[in-house]
Amino acid sequence: MEIMKVSAGADIEIFEKLSGLDKKCVGNEGWSADSFRSEVQKDNGIVLCFTDGNNIIALLSGYFAEGEGDITSVAVDENFRRKGLAQKLIEEFIKILPENTESIFLEVRENNTPAINLYKKCGFEKLSVRKNFYSNPCENAVVMVKNL
Ligand SMILES: CC(C)(COP(=O)(O)OP(=O)(O)OC[C@H]1O[C@@H](n2cnc3c(N)ncnc32)[C@H](O)[C@@H]1OP(=O)(O)O)[C@@H](O)C(=O)NCCC(=O)NCCS
Repeated sequence: MEIMKVSAGADIEIFEKLSGLDKKCVGNEGWSADSFRSEVQKDNGIVLCFTDGNNIIALLSGYFAEGEGDITSVAVDENFRRKGLAQKLIEEFIKILPENTESIFLEVRENNTPAINLYKKCGFEKLSVRKNFYSNPCENAVVMVKNL
C-alpha cells in the first residue's frame, strides 16, 4: 500500500470519501468534503491517505506555518487499525514539511488513549491541557508537541 498526497484538483469523490472516513472515526467532529477540499487548496495544507484500491482506509490532515506544523486529524478505518498506518502517515507528514519546521503541535481528547499512545510512539510529548476544549462530550484537550 502506498501513501497518496491528495491534490487540490482531486475528484470530489475523494473528498467525500475522506469525509466519510473521518466522520465514521470521530463522529460529528469529522470534517465535511468541502473542509478537506479547502485544506488542500491552501498552499500550506497537507492531506495524506492510504487506499485499499476503492476506499480510503486511513487519513491525516495538517498544515504548516512559520516554522510550525500542526496535525488536525488522523483517522484509520477500524478494520485496518494496529497495522502501523497512522504511524506511517505521521512519518510521511514530517518528511514533507518544509525544512525550517521546528515543531509539530496537535490536540487530542484527554481520554483518547489509542491516539495519545500513537503520538507518544511518534515522539510527541504532552505540553499542556486546554480545559473543556471539546464539546459533545465536553472534555479537556491535551496539547502535544514534537520538536524536530
Ligand atoms: C488513533 C488511531 C488513528 C490509530 O491508528 P492505527 O493505524 O491503528 O495506529 P498504528 O497501527 O499506527 O499504531 C501505532 C501505535 O499507536 C499506539 N496505538 C494505536 N492504537 C492503539 C490502541 N487501540 N490502544 C493502545 N495503543 C494504541 C500503539 O503504541 C501502536 O504501536 P503498536 O501497535 O506497535 O503497539 C485509530 O485508532 C483511530 O482512527 N481512532 C479513531 C480516530 C481518532 O481518535 N483519531 C485521533 C484524533 S486526535
